[in-house]
Amino acid sequence: MTRSILVTGATGYIGSHTCVCLLEAGWRVIGIDNLCNSSPRVLSHIARITDRELPFQVLDVRDHVNLCRLLQREEVSAVIHFAGLKAVGTSVSQPLNYFDNNIAGTLTLLRALHQHGVRKLVFSSSATVYGEPKHVPITEDAPLSATNPYGRTKLIIEQCLADLRQSDPEWRIATLRYFNPAGAHETGLLGEDPRDTPNNLMPYIAQVAVGRRKCLTIFGNDYPTPDGTGVRDYIHVMDLARGHLASLERLFNKPDSFTVNLGTGQGVSVLEAVAAFEAACEKKIPVRFSGRRPGDVASCYASPESARELLGWRAEKQLADMCADHWRWQRNHPNGY
Ligand code: NAD
Ligand code: UD1
Repeated sequence: MTRSILVTGATGYIGSHTCVCLLEAGWRVIGIDNLCNSSPRVLSHIARITDRELPFQVLDVRDHVNLCRLLQREEVSAVIHFAGLKAVGTSVSQPLNYFDNNIAGTLTLLRALHQHGVRKLVFSSSATVYGEPKHVPITEDAPLSATNPYGRTKLIIEQCLADLRQSDPEWRIATLRYFNPAGAHETGLLGEDPRDTPNNLMPYIAQVAVGRRKCLTIFGNDYPTPDGTGVRDYIHVMDLARGHLASLERLFNKPDSFTVNLGTGQGVSVLEAVAAFEAACEKKIPVRFSGRRPGDVASCYASPESARELLGWRAEKQLADMCADHWRWQRNHPNGY
């Protein structure tokens, strides 16, 4: 049987890299996206890398009627659900948009899947569900909380998925808690293309390196970390993409659901990330220090043990690879797609 995988948010940053992995592994893939934060040009780049066309439809996951039409037409056996909004700051100023897009969008998708007998789902969660972690490395059984509306959407969806599993054991759900995705496809054809000023560290540094921004502002140098700057777990987007492949394979082979961290287990400070990027682009990144960003934690990195045990997966790429690939993408596409 040819198994089709429906990928929502397929033209986005993580979705596009995962589509490449799926196509290269021989899966039949159908992508959907409403293009609110991505470009359809991604599709020709995916085709160039994989030598295969990605069947694609512009579709909003809140559009129940057209989702059902698609599910009636195509033999979908599992879904990887990336579609959603992800800017923490905007979620604070526009919580209703976040509740509608992320929570209502996921519920509409789940209802359509339920109606059409699709019972396998991989969901994009985030390390944000750990709130302010008490201990690092963070294991999956750490306490969960939300510190902003974006985080609340991920937490609520996780809880809805747990209820759904409880109600119907036919559901097999992989909940993947990503740490800090970074890097790009090694060809330099796919990468992260933020529409507005980047919120996240790596795309910001890359835009400084390419001359689009003057200087990186480092939020805080008085954290209780070795050099005083915030420590995070940066993970190469292709390692993350492979994590989705491994999760999908497990859903098809084992009749259970699981929740895992996808991170490297390595903490990297802002100053270490800047130094690694400087080495990759062979340029000095101008920095200035400001106060802490509200809501930031000192240190956040994963215990990747569960992913290793359950999926046989571990991150393989290093910080230097993430910076080299991110820089290749940014240099080739100084203004994005
Ligand atoms: P992205 O914005 O690049 O991709 C998300 C895609 O979803 C975009 O192409 C957007 O156009 C699409 N989309 C948004 N709302 C939609 C809707 N209602 N219907 C259809 N398409 C819609 O983001 P990303 O970095 O690729 O993130 C993918 C997922 O991973 C998101 O759910 C995000 O919350 C989660 N996540 C991302 C990070 C990160 O740092 N990038 C970290 C943890 C979790
Ligand atoms: C952010 C989000 C989090 C989300 C995660 C991955 C916030 C408050 N949190 O977290 O919900 O799950 O991204 O998408 O936005 N930094 C700078 N200067 C910058 C940008 C960042 O110094 O211009 C620092 C931050 O203070 C932090 C580190 O770099 O110490 C990483 O920041 P970022 O990439 O935004 O990721 P998170 O803080 O982990």
